[in-house]
Amino acid sequence: MNEQILMEQEELQFEALIDGLLNNQYGLCESFMDTHIISGLRDNLFKHRENGEMHPAGIGKKFDYQKNTLVRGDLIKWIDNESQDVFERVLLDKIKRFIKYLNRTCYTSINDYEFHYANYEVNSFYKRHLDQFKSEKGRQFSFIIYLNENWITADGGKLSLYVNANKIDETYPLEGRTVFFKSDELEHEVHPSFTRNRISIAGWLKNI
Ligand code: OGA
Ligand code: MN
Repeated sequence: MNEQILMEQEELQFEALIDGLLNNQYGLCESFMDTHIISGLRDNLFKHRENGEMHPAGIGKKFDYQKNTLVRGDLIKWIDNESQDVFERVLLDKIKRFIKYLNRTCYTSINDYEFHYANYEVNSFYKRHLDQFKSEKGRQFSFIIYLNENWITADGGKLSLYVNANKIDETYPLEGRTVFFKSDELEHEVHPSFTRNRISIAGWLKNI
């Protein structure tokens, strides 16, 4: 495929994410990355998991492990924004183009981003929350891309999106599916998976 067509396809994905956000509080896009990139990112996560490089994430400034696990049970590993890993590079370069597109079309002023791998073991969850904490004011937009091969509804692990008092949407963490929303506006919740690890990359577009 030539470069022009690829660029147009990418812009359609960006548009879909932004349209969803503007019309329904969140954007959804399938196959945000090619499967061989997703597969490379998944292998990275497996490697980090095997090497014991994934750790509980902190919530707020004072990190209390006991209290923390009542709220969220995932293990994470941050991705270096300057990473030279080929798969992380492809993802982060696309994120940078998305930020440019967003700043140009929506007059946002995103000037930083942070992403991490996340692994939810069976039965772990992340209770209903917003992504912008008091100590994380810089987070403007949340972005999640799922890495789960052949996920089925019976595996559980759905994400609830509290759109408004009368509307709770749900989505399952299917490979390549991407969710995008405002970090200080949309409450959401990760439900336990029943059968297998639930893996993803989560990130935030920031203004610092
Ligand atoms: C988060 C989060 C949602 C998901 O990491 O803050 O809410 O579906 N993740 O993994
Ligand atoms: Mn969240």
